[in-house]
Amino acid sequence: MNTPLNTPMNTPAIETTDRTGFRIGPWQIVAPAVLAPMAGVTDRPFRILARQQGAALAASEMITADTRLWNSRKSRQRMNHEGEPEPRVVQLAGADPQALAEAARRNVDLGAQIIDINMGCPAKKVCNKLCGSALLQDEPLVARILETVVTAVAATGSGVPVTLKTRTGWDREHRNGVRVAQIAEQSGIAALAIHGRTRADFYEGEAEYDTIRAIRATVRIPVLANGDIDGADKARQVLSYTGAAGVMVGRGAHGAPWIFRDLNGLLARGVVPAALSAAERRDIVLAHLQAIYAFHGEESGLRIARKHLGWYARLLDRTSDARALLMAASSTSTQYACAAKFFGAWAAVH
Ligand SMILES: Cc1cc2nc3c(=O)[nH]c(=O)nc-3n(C[C@H](O)[C@H](O)[C@H](O)COP(=O)(O)O)c2cc1C
Repeated sequence: MNTPLNTPMNTPAIETTDRTGFRIGPWQIVAPAVLAPMAGVTDRPFRILARQQGAALAASEMITADTRLWNSRKSRQRMNHEGEPEPRVVQLAGADPQALAEAARRNVDLGAQIIDINMGCPAKKVCNKLCGSALLQDEPLVARILETVVTAVAATGSGVPVTLKTRTGWDREHRNGVRVAQIAEQSGIAALAIHGRTRADFYEGEAEYDTIRAIRATVRIPVLANGDIDGADKARQVLSYTGAAGVMVGRGAHGAPWIFRDLNGLLARGVVPAALSAAERRDIVLAHLQAIYAFHGEESGLRIARKHLGWYARLLDRTSDARALLMAASSTSTQYACAAKFFGAWAAVH
């Protein structure tokens, strides 16, 4: 599961004294590993599950700054935080400073306790309108956006901090992550999450941590290292190489929300806890399905649960027809019954 760090390890590690957590504005984040925002994945049920499994933070899926689009069911669901542990992180995507500021203010009113700005998403849908990581091409605009949002949120008197999630640069010839981080710090951004790829890299190749290390060496605000962290050993190597305050994990949590137990066990307490039993994992999978159905309803619930089941099915015997049957279920009740049967049988023999 753990892949080796793709950075020369003869470079000395940056030692930080405290691996137990970090601060974001008024919030003490109690452990170094957090869940990455992922559209279509980190809905409320998954955020709550990841937090239960030890993730110290879990950001919402990105919400457009265009408030005219907030009337859709999808946007409303993305802004629903009922029952979510504090601090509740809302991620906003947009390119217009005033629109982002207004969206941030409105989300503070709706209960956001940390506002995160997305300048990391390379998706066409986002980038055609010059937002997400496309903004990295325009540093003065980055500064305007960050200053405007920080000022607007400060004016609410809520004390809500604003964070930034971004990449290492526009493309490999324009790795301006360090300058963007400096702009962020000067603009009053409280913490940074850096995905170790450029916008042009999309998700190709391996994440690099040199730029994250350089950013960490330049700014004083907490930096979270992100990209290709898939286990506790890798997380420890990345933290020690970059000197980051924490790690942010996305795809490594697909079908494995319990990864945060391992990560935070090793990073904060020096030991990976005993693995959950198969019966405990079965129960988590089934409870996750129920939470998805309750939150999204029949149609969306079926579809969203299918995606998670595709990942959870990696636990099951690959030669069986379990995966195909789980994917083929056409109602939440048959899907749940199928999952209970296959994960039940798996738990009985593991
Ligand atoms: C399905 C999916 C959806 C994503 N959606 C978002 C998003 O809404 N906002 C964001 O900042 N990053 C988004 N990302 C990027 C992740 O937060 C993260 O930076 C990236 O996956 C690299 O980390 P990883 O290697 O741990 O997955 C998404 C990634 C994936 C795989």
